[in-house]
Amino acid sequence: MEIIISDSPNDVAVKAADILQGYANRGATLGVATGSTPLATYEELIRRHTAGELSFAGCKMFALDEYVGLPIEHEQSYYSVIHNELSNHVDIDPQDVHIPNGLAEDLAAGCADYEQAIVDAGGIDVQLLGIGANGHVGFNEPSSSLSSLTRMKTLHPQTVADNARFFDSAENVPVHVVTQGLGTIQRAGQLLLLATGEQKAHAISQLVEGPLSAACPASILQIHPHATVIVDEAAASKLNNVDYYKFIQQHKPA
Ligand code: F6R
Repeated sequence: MEIIISDSPNDVAVKAADILQGYANRGATLGVATGSTPLATYEELIRRHTAGELSFAGCKMFALDEYVGLPIEHEQSYYSVIHNELSNHVDIDPQDVHIPNGLAEDLAAGCADYEQAIVDAGGIDVQLLGIGANGHVGFNEPSSSLSSLTRMKTLHPQTVADNARFFDSAENVPVHVVTQGLGTIQRAGQLLLLATGEQKAHAISQLVEGPLSAACPASILQIHPHATVIVDEAAASKLNNVDYYKFIQQHKPA
């Protein structure tokens, strides 16, 4: 794993955009995340696109997850979030933006179709990830199978509480979601996980320095051949080997 410790949340976004720009400009298949963390990165990508530095022409996007039962027009559906925060502002063909279907009559069949769509697209080249305070990636909560594929999951009460800020109240947060599995995420060519703020420090320490374990689903990055973690100082504050990770970055071969 490459661990990049940045001075500020803004610097996390710039570094993430630097990596994603290379993929976008070659028409790659991008795995995109929702939540607060990637928003600054999306703003930076849109800024670069507007400045003519970056094109999403020929790209495909696959979102990580979606709430079950939330109409896509709802402003907190991940369909709305991905379109409003990213894809509507860049030159990707709307037909190439894929979001798991949380409204399918047969959710299991919808999830299988989503897996197949990723395979048919040739796989995800780079998967952007946030991390839950409890170590979840996508909506793979602690105890998720490390080889799981896209399926329905029940949110952890902590995630419901964390996501209540996006809704009028915790009671309005859907408890069920469909999410790419940990096995799905593992198949992406590169994993790019971002975290900012002290509230993510414990999860980041478990991901980087804890055991590979379903208790911290993000620890699957430890067994991925090309995983990059970009964090700010606050999210890095519980890492034991922070000086070594900085030393590696200072001595990065040209
Ligand atoms: C969102 C997702 C979640 C979030 C995580 C962190 O698509 O899959 O894993 O990345 O809950 O959310 P924020 O960034 O809001 O702290």
